[in-house]
This record gives sequence, C-alpha cells and structure tokens, in this order.
Amino acid sequence: MKEDILKVLLSEEEIAAKVSEIGAKISRDYHDKNLLLVSVLKGSVVFMADLMRAIDVNAAIDFMSVSSYGSGTKTSGEVKIIKDLDRSLEGVDLLLVEDILDSGKTLHYLRDMLSKRGPKSIRIATLLDKPARREADIKPDYVCFEVPDEFVVGYGLDYAEKYRNLPYVGILKPSVYE
Ligand code: PRP
Ligand code: MN
Ligand code: MG
Repeated sequence: MKEDILKVLLSEEEIAAKVSEIGAKISRDYHDKNLLLVSVLKGSVVFMADLMRAIDVNAAIDFMSVSSYGSGTKTSGEVKIIKDLDRSLEGVDLLLVEDILDSGKTLHYLRDMLSKRGPKSIRIATLLDKPARREADIKPDYVCFEVPDEFVVGYGLDYAEKYRNLPYVGILKPSVYE
C-alpha cells in the first residue's frame, strides 16, 4: 500500500491539529444551535470520527451514502443515493461533513436535495478543498486544507476503494492509475 504513495501531503499530526481547530470553531458557532452532523459515506468516515470528538457542544449524527465516482478517478456527475438519512431535518442545523470538495457536484446535489426538507440552516465542513477542479457553484463553510490538483488518497479517501485506511493524506503515484 505505502509503495503506491508518491509523498505524504498532510501528516497525521498536521491533520489532528487542524481538525481540533475546526472543531473548536464549529463548537463556538453552534453552541446555541440544533446541530446535526451528516457524514457523506464513505470517504468522510475518518474525518467525521475525528471531527465529532473535537466538537464539545451537543451534536446528533447521521449518515448518507452516495456515490458519484464509482471505481474511476473522474466524476460522472451523476449522484446516486445509496442510503438516505434516518431522520427528519425539520428545524435542524445541518452540517454536511465531507472528505473532499472536488468538482463540487456531490455536495451541490446534496445541499439542494436536503434544503427542501426544512432544515433551519445548512453548512458544509470539508477536510480538503480542491478549488482548481470546481464545476458546480458551491463553497465550503469550514475547510481544513486546500489541496493542489493531485490525486490524493488516505484518511478516508480512496482510489478504487483502496488506501482509505492510511492515517495520512498522500499523493498517489501516477503509475497506479495511468
Ligand atoms: C468522492 C469524495 C466526495 C466526492 C467529491 O466520493 O469522497 O464525496 O467524491 O467529488 P465531487 O466534488 O467532484 O463531487 P466518491 O463518490 O468517490 O465516493 P466515496 O466517498 O465512497 O469514495
Ligand atoms: Mn465521497
Ligand atoms: Mg471515492
């Protein structure tokens, strides 16, 4: 697994420090709110697990499973709902938790769809933002790191379902996907 990584882009320590900083910010912003963290599976699962423990105000959690990339490296633009939320969003302050905002199509679709269900507010927290690749009109509210247009894996991010369990974010060697 490690032999496929060109270099470590974000170390475990860097990620941990930034996640606790963003968690503190979210705690301040949501202390008087009805926070629901929604993790967009599967990529955000590692970030979600760390971020929720860095938040020290009441927060409910839920999960949605969507897929747009399949096993390739490019987005199809088509977002498939594999698992919907278990609960109503009426009166909820929704915070969507993602691992990466790339073209932005996944979150654009989700935000539109979920905003029709009566939440009080919707915001987006993402571990990584890759603005160079943005196609949809969407901006994250909380970003841990802006990243260059390289194929990144680890800390939840996959290539063909591999590398999610790396504890850091690394750049994949082009020879792996070319
Ligand atoms: C990846 C990533 C984001 C999305 C970002 O998910 O985890 O959810 O793509 O891309 P976009 O901004 O271009 O829409 P993917 O569909 O690969 O599913 P996964 O989370 O299960 O890996
Ligand atoms: Mn995803
Ligand atoms: Mg993926």
